[in-house]
Amino acid sequence: MEKTLVIIKPGAIQRELVGEIITRFERKGLHLCGIKMYQFTDKVVSEHYAHLADRPFFKRIKDSMMITPVIVCCWEGLDAVRIVRSMSGGTNGREAAPGTIRGDFSMSVQENIVHASDTVENAKVEINRFFKPEEIFEFKPNNFPFVYANDEV
Ligand code: PPS
Repeated sequence: MEKTLVIIKPGAIQRELVGEIITRFERKGLHLCGIKMYQFTDKVVSEHYAHLADRPFFKRIKDSMMITPVIVCCWEGLDAVRIVRSMSGGTNGREAAPGTIRGDFSMSVQENIVHASDTVENAKVEINRFFKPEEIFEFKPNNFPFVYANDEV
């Protein structure tokens, strides 16, 4: 089943939104298969945002990601990458749709509460960046028959 990575950013840690964010994904029916608190280093945050290295805000977003530890979590489900991106909302919190995480809790492009993998390929790279294989737990939760029909999984 598909897995994706979510980073609960320092702004959400400072604003005590961790439980709220995790609850949203749990209530949707996504399955938490890895979670930990993590302090970014300059090396890892530069790697994570390497695709933005030529942007003027590169240093600013890197600095903002190191202000406090973050929470990294791995969520599993059918179409998990697409669903988590849609629940996160558009990048700019001021434009993100109400009902999404950013639409409800963010007023900023940078301070946008969560990072979520954008493709299945990037999700694999990002999960490997933050988790050792033994930190991802493979088990089938008991609620599966009530989350999916048996021909869906
Ligand atoms: S972009 O700008 O087209 O690359 O947009 P996007 O891919 O959606 O954004 C990638 C991450 O860059 C952050 N971002 C910014 N930070 C600070 N200032 C500005 N102007 C800015 N624009 C984009 C944005 O928060 C995204 O972070 P993640 O962690 O991936 O959500």
